[in-house]
Amino acid sequence: MTRKLFIKTYGCQMNVYDSERMAEALGAQGYTPTDRPEEADMILLNTCHIREKAAEKVYSELGRLKPLKAANPDLKIGIAGCVAQAEGEEIMRRAPVVDLVVGPQTYHRLPAMEAAVRAGARAVDTDFPPEDKFEHLPPNRSGGPRASRGPTAFLTVQEGCDKFCAFCVVPYTRGAEVSRPAARLLAEARDLVDRGVREITLLGQNVNAYHGEGPNGLVWSLARLIDALADIEGLARIRYTTSHPNDMSDDLIAAHGAQPKLMPYLHLPVQAGSDRVLKAMNRKHTAEQYLRIIERLRVARPDLALSGDFIVGFPGESEADFQATLDLVRAVGYAQAYSFRYSPRPGTPAAERAPVPAEEAAERLQRLQALLADQQRAAQEAMVGQEVGVLFEKPGRMPGQMVGKSDHLHAVHVAGGGVAPGDLARVRITAAASHSLAGAVLGVVE
Ligand code: SAH
Ligand code: SF4
Ligand code: F3S
Repeated sequence: MTRKLFIKTYGCQMNVYDSERMAEALGAQGYTPTDRPEEADMILLNTCHIREKAAEKVYSELGRLKPLKAANPDLKIGIAGCVAQAEGEEIMRRAPVVDLVVGPQTYHRLPAMEAAVRAGARAVDTDFPPEDKFEHLPPNRSGGPRASRGPTAFLTVQEGCDKFCAFCVVPYTRGAEVSRPAARLLAEARDLVDRGVREITLLGQNVNAYHGEGPNGLVWSLARLIDALADIEGLARIRYTTSHPNDMSDDLIAAHGAQPKLMPYLHLPVQAGSDRVLKAMNRKHTAEQYLRIIERLRVARPDLALSGDFIVGFPGESEADFQATLDLVRAVGYAQAYSFRYSPRPGTPAAERAPVPAEEAAERLQRLQALLADQQRAAQEAMVGQEVGVLFEKPGRMPGQMVGKSDHLHAVHVAGGGVAPGDLARVRITAAASHSLAGAVLGVVE
């Protein structure tokens, strides 16, 4: 019997990857994906808990789903992801419409939970189990020939976090750092490439802390893993995210200069530019140490595009502290960045401290975002006239248009055909708009 599964994904790229794996796990139970919640027999909300109103968003989404359940009594509703982990029991109590709650480390148990729920039970599983879920999920080659897929994919290589930044829920929702064995990752990557993938982004909450078991029994670093992945024929590009400055090891910095398949783009969050605030955040590095890492990366790869994350209005942040953040941003010159107003998260140490007044934090965020927007514009404009590599992903909004990503992760669109999804081409950038570049294809490389 086939049933239909609708998954709505919030949060980070790891949730996107997890949603795919949950769909595979339920695929073995006869579920096929749908993008229409009205026709679903199972709806999963894969949630994020990183900033404020996470739980409220889940409850309001559940309110919207309620009529669907009235219309289809067979519909089952599940909550997955980081809100499920943090507040699963509470959700079960408050929302009778929910049949199932599953955390990020237990979704390999979804098939059994689904069977229980079909039999009329409600199921909660937010354990941190001793077993590795990936060892219990359907192996990629099971279930007959696999559908081909788009040219880019995520691959989780490391999960969890032992860093405990004072503001962050991730160590509590994802658990301790675990690295997957290299042999499993190489097999999964080969399978993705067999299905048409040309670019893989390696994922982890602290991806550069990767220290997985190598096929030779030795521990492999992320740089070693990247080199092994680069040997896969047909794989053209490798990226990784998200990194912590303290795990930016010498071999990884060197890989940015030595490994041609590793793309010249790095997301390296720093959060703040004041050492006092960095210390209060428990980041365990100074602004100067971060800047030195950037310097070394740029020696290895002069055209490296940098991205970062920033939090403004952390408890105790003064105007002078905030100025130090602006100074750091000016010193680095980001091609792209994310910035957030500090949001107290239940259970984290910083949530106990006195907050910066909301208007002050909002005003600082505006100033930071204006500076980051200027830098982003400058980085886009600097590309005009340059020849870049572009991996094309899909047709654009205009007829005949194709869109893809440059080596530096800029969105690029070209008109007039001549390229297909999955083509890697040399492109001359002709113009910069606010969020994308326009270009002309010089030739398809492979
Ligand atoms: N593991 C990654 C990313 C963690 S979450 C890292 O260490 O960089 C992504 C971003 O959300 C963080 O980098 C931080 O900038 C932001 N963030 C996390 N907790 C937050 C909070 N309580 N308030 C505001 N922003 C937060
Ligand atoms: Fe959160 Fe810090 Fe861990 Fe990143 S390194 S996931 S910000 S605790
Ligand atoms: Fe959100 Fe969890 Fe990712 S809190 S950012 S979905 S690790």
